[in-house]
Amino acid sequence: MGFLSHQTHTDSFLFITTLFIFVSIHLCLSSANDTITSNTSIEDNHTITSNNTNFKLGFFSPPNSTNRYVAIWYLSDSNIVWIANREQAVKDSSGVIKIHKDGNLVVMDGRNYIVWSTNLTFSTKYVTNISSAQLQDKGNLVLRDDNTGETVWDSFTHPADAAMPMMKITANKFTGKKMEYVSWKSPTDPSSGDYSVSMERLAAPELFLWYKKTRPYYRTGPWNGRTFLGSPTMLTEYLYGWRLDHDPDGTNYLTYNFADPDAFAIVWITYDGKLRMAKFLNQKNFATIDISPKDCDFYGACGPFGNCDPSSKPICSCFEGFEPRNVQEWSKKNWTSGCVRKKEAQLQCDRLKNLNNNSNNGVDEVQQDGFKVFNNMKVPDFAERSDDDLDNCRTSCLANCSCLAYAYDSYIGCMFWITDLIDLEQFSIGGVDLFLRVPHSQLATGNKGRRVNKSLIIAIIAGAIGIVALAICAYITWQKWTAKQARTLSQKKTTVGEQNQMKLDELPLFEFQKLATATNNFHAENMLGKGGFGPVYKGHLEDGQEIAVKRLSKASGQGLEEFMNEVVVISKLQHRNLVRLLGCCVEPDEQMLVYEFMPNKSLDAFLFDPQRRKVLDWKKRFNIIEGIARGILYLHRDSRLRIIHRDLKASNILLDDAMNPKISDFGLARIFRGDEDHEASTKKVIGTYGYMPPEYAMEGLFSEKSDVYSFGVLLLEIVSGRKNTSFYNHRQSLSLVGYAWKLWNENNVISLIDPEIMDPIFEKNILRCIHIGLLCVQELTKERPTISTVVLMLISEITHLPPPGQVAFVHKQNLYNSESSQKSHPSTRSNNNLTLTEIEGR
Ligand SMILES: *[C@@H]1O[C@H](CO)[C@@H](O)[C@H](O)[C@H]1NC(C)=O
Ligand SMILES: *[C@@H]1O[C@H](CO)[C@@H](O)[C@H](O)[C@H]1NC(C)=O
Ligand SMILES: *[C@@H]1O[C@H](CO)[C@@H](O)[C@H](O)[C@H]1NC(C)=O
Repeated sequence: MGFLSHQTHTDSFLFITTLFIFVSIHLCLSSANDTITSNTSIEDNHTITSNNTNFKLGFFSPPNSTNRYVAIWYLSDSNIVWIANREQAVKDSSGVIKIHKDGNLVVMDGRNYIVWSTNLTFSTKYVTNISSAQLQDKGNLVLRDDNTGETVWDSFTHPADAAMPMMKITANKFTGKKMEYVSWKSPTDPSSGDYSVSMERLAAPELFLWYKKTRPYYRTGPWNGRTFLGSPTMLTEYLYGWRLDHDPDGTNYLTYNFADPDAFAIVWITYDGKLRMAKFLNQKNFATIDISPKDCDFYGACGPFGNCDPSSKPICSCFEGFEPRNVQEWSKKNWTSGCVRKKEAQLQCDRLKNLNNNSNNGVDEVQQDGFKVFNNMKVPDFAERSDDDLDNCRTSCLANCSCLAYAYDSYIGCMFWITDLIDLEQFSIGGVDLFLRVPHSQLATGNKGRRVNKSLIIAIIAGAIGIVALAICAYITWQKWTAKQARTLSQKKTTVGEQNQMKLDELPLFEFQKLATATNNFHAENMLGKGGFGPVYKGHLEDGQEIAVKRLSKASGQGLEEFMNEVVVISKLQHRNLVRLLGCCVEPDEQMLVYEFMPNKSLDAFLFDPQRRKVLDWKKRFNIIEGIARGILYLHRDSRLRIIHRDLKASNILLDDAMNPKISDFGLARIFRGDEDHEASTKKVIGTYGYMPPEYAMEGLFSEKSDVYSFGVLLLEIVSGRKNTSFYNHRQSLSLVGYAWKLWNENNVISLIDPEIMDPIFEKNILRCIHIGLLCVQELTKERPTISTVVLMLISEITHLPPPGQVAFVHKQNLYNSESSQKSHPSTRSNNNLTLTEIEGR
């Protein structure tokens, strides 16, 4: 019995212990550790944790300090994202955070003195359980009124120095109320420091970085739906996924986010005025990027009417017709006073004012002011906005003497300036075309020094070819073509001509002799290959710079037109993923284009070579795919003129020394006017078989979607390491596109992947790329994504991809049929080395 009794005793002890443990665990789990209620208070050595465990709220001390602050951090307390009592520290470890009896969330020190409070007034005072605070999964600390269930306060709308996905930056157009992110005072002192960020200029909102709240330090330029117009690379590069919205009450808010739920980044304003971004690849690994303004980035670096160009020395210059306000200061590189209009370059408007004459009487009509265009400019500060279209924007500006300049962006609309132009910068990519008001006398000038002018090139080429008739003919054809573009694609008057003139004027000229020396007299050993209209040679300039010289072949009939086309198109373009034109040579017997040299030649030389393709691992290949897409995006969207390349293929993708892709060969490109979204047709189908979509190959219809098709083919080639045409010898005579489609439908698309890049780590990513490639080569043009969508898909901003529809390879049979009725032999089509393949349209 005694034995039994003892047994029972032990059992009940075990039972009670187990129950106790179970209940404790249960309590621990159920009283969520992410919430502060009126019953809980968080003492210095305790924290609360968000449900997903990513964020913690608790006390911390900055480096070299014993001060205690209540903060929220991400993963570790080196990633502080928010601080409650930043202005007033708790001096010892006696602090506590709790819900005060008035309902506010407060931080108190050991003497029950409130050092920080949410400072709200609750309607239901002195009732228990008024409110509770919860640390949510996104890192937002939310105070809820428990009687109404409403959120009455949250940390996301009371930020410190850090922004995270889902956080907003807001400003109200009517009330002027705006949110500010304020830096720490120093690395060891989190109280409000010198730098802050807010949204400003609400007619066309942009972000400002302020120094001491009053002095602008850096501005992003207005948001145009895709980028900040004044920071073509700096912000948008790193922080894709921005979004601007506005509420009916006049509140504008900007957010950034990643569609990929695993992607996460924090951006801080550092105490010394930098933006620091930590991009977390996963819980352990992250990359930190410091973005610090430099040279021209500083607000008003060159003063009023001063133009800042980071690539020139000195960086500041006055526009033509302007001179430094204070020559002495200017010569000492103190640019702050900027530039003023020269007396002799007065505007007609000002002359009228001086004459005290408000009418046009007595002033020669010919003397009217005009505009001079500057491309790739940072939009100056203090833009006014109107809803005028491009033409009316110009007309209204010209009609109003207060208007000193205008610019047009299809998203923002007409911008004009009635104050001194400040914070101007000359970008190499992006920005806007800024039209600056100039007196009539300045309009006629421009053909100065060693600069080319369009008609000059043509005149010289005419002599060059020797057959004047041919030249005139080509000239007229070209003119007609340009005119036709202008007429059919835009009913409005366009400034395209003006821009051509402008850019060509800036193109440096090379002497024939210099290029002959550089290329060892066009020695065969220096020949790199054949471009669209002639051989390409490698050369060394005297200063050691390596160049690629493309020489118009005298035997090339197509050459002249393509040469002209290439000059006109590429001289206007600058982008990381486009090959850069350094200048040209137009002498009586020679026409050449000079490009930067690409040491790694073209993509096909790597991709289709059994040895060299090993160099291209998946990361490099993905970088190439993304680069090509961004280059096309620039052609289609980001340069104000829309350009369809029409001949995208592996041999036209050059690779620099870091294997970055550069699109080249613009001989076949077509220009559309900026706001046209159009399809055109041509009688003469030129391009490369295998990369041409059926609507173009068969009907001569081309649009942006034709380039998207070619991109899709390229993408499949890059992933598979096989030429699109490499399948033609097979019995089943499938193209790569057809083969990929077949595998897709057999659920076996994985076997398309080049074994060289096959790696389980990247498999998901590679399959996603193939999926995107198939979307690009769909038969129906309207089903193909635009290139901007493609870019978003590639960088995973768009997570859900629609299934691809019928791809455009079935027409191959028809194409062959239609071909066989043509003059040329079908076998020439299967030779991808043929750069130009012509078939007549129907
Ligand atoms: C709350 O109000 C007090 C007194 O008006 C003020 O000193 C304090 O800065 C306020 N705190 C916050 C966080 O706004
Ligand atoms: C530059 O010139 C401005 C305006 O005259 C003056 O206020 C400023 O002190 C000068 N800065 C320097 C570094 O000399
Ligand atoms: C010129 O434009 C400004 C700004 O829109 C406006 O205030 C002013 O009245 C205009 N002047 C004339 C003469 O239209």
